[in-house]
Amino acid sequence: MPDTPNTTTQTMTLDLGDRSYDIHIGSQLLETIGTQLTPLLKAKRVFVVSESTVMAHQGDRLKAALENSAIEAKWFVLNPGEATKSTAQYESLVSGLLAAGIDRSDTIVAFGGGVIGDLAGFAAATVLRGINFVQIPTTLLAQVDSSVGGKTGINMPQGKNLLGAFYQPKAVIIDVSTLETLPRRELLAGYAEVVKYGVINDPDFFSWLEINGQKIIDREAGPAGTKARTHAVAHSCAAKARIVAEDERETGKRALLNLGHTFGHALEAECGYSGILLHGEAVAIGMIMALEASVRLGLAKTNDLERVEAHFTAVGMKTSAREIGRAMTADALMVHMTKDKKVEAGTIGFVLGGIGSAAVHRGVDLEIIHAVLHDSL
Ligand code: NAD
Ligand code: GLY
Repeated sequence: MPDTPNTTTQTMTLDLGDRSYDIHIGSQLLETIGTQLTPLLKAKRVFVVSESTVMAHQGDRLKAALENSAIEAKWFVLNPGEATKSTAQYESLVSGLLAAGIDRSDTIVAFGGGVIGDLAGFAAATVLRGINFVQIPTTLLAQVDSSVGGKTGINMPQGKNLLGAFYQPKAVIIDVSTLETLPRRELLAGYAEVVKYGVINDPDFFSWLEINGQKIIDREAGPAGTKARTHAVAHSCAAKARIVAEDERETGKRALLNLGHTFGHALEAECGYSGILLHGEAVAIGMIMALEASVRLGLAKTNDLERVEAHFTAVGMKTSAREIGRAMTADALMVHMTKDKKVEAGTIGFVLGGIGSAAVHRGVDLEIIHAVLHDSL
């Protein structure tokens, strides 16, 4: 895939029978959002859940577009950050929705990154036993991963994302121009999830990213930059949509999307889910660890590890736990791994393999995993 396909606005369908929905991807879609939104609404009224940073940067665009389409909007603007995915914030949001008179003909719109998408989606899944919702993701991570596929939820004191539901939106509307105001660090974190799709099962896409990834990170202006961003997001959504259509509840293939996540979650837990290490940064380092383990287990060529490491370094991504700047031990990371919610019947499922050949492996020799962790600290 050396050239970037010609992409303007694209629409694809995530095929889940009578719960199928469209994913629209383009630039400046916010301005005409009524076109996609209006046909989905039972009542011409939406309950928009967002947060203050997103509203400061992108809120006026959505407000104007809803007004232009004569869609009444009630706004619920929360605090930005992972702490918003809490039981307290969930209760406060649901109370606010009910106090504002939400009924089953209404639609919740999640306008923000993964934090807002997960929380608003869970509120939609549960309030009045479930009402329609639409995702308008504004971070790269949310555009290529969290807004698609229906995983919703909040954090518990016992761990991240432990209270939630599989609950699909009625549509995902992605305007890549919202990424123009996203901090570079957040953009890079989301980019890790884009690279993940190439490494899982799409070596051509990984090769395309090696050539074009920098344009996405540098937010190259003009048509070439827009085309590259739109293509990267659309290709990622198509990959995720195919996997979710096959395995919505993660009983099989969907687990491939956890490439780098078992290692990454352990790193995040050790950093206390703080700003020290963003989720996408942890996934990038975790992907390198998974490739290192794959090489040691004879499941990947050294060249695959070197290519992914070189690409991450070229775009400015951390590739090693040493770069986090926090003292950790392999023993402590192993303890986090054994508590991961993807542990089944006591065994940890690791997504391993080379570029384009990822598969879930159980019963992996944990001494090798320990050694990979030890050598990367
Ligand atoms: P986030 O929602 O916290 O957004 C990151 C930062 O970017 C925040 O500071 C936010 O205020 C800011 N921001 C958002 N959009 C902006 C814009 N357009 N311009 C300027 N600033 C903007 O984080 P995230 O990385 O989008 O999502 C992380 C969350 O997603 C985690 O809670 C994670 O568990 C969850 N997640 C869920 C899934 C899923 O399948 N449901 C998958 C991956 C991650
Ligand atoms: N982010 C992994 C999944 O949606 O399954």
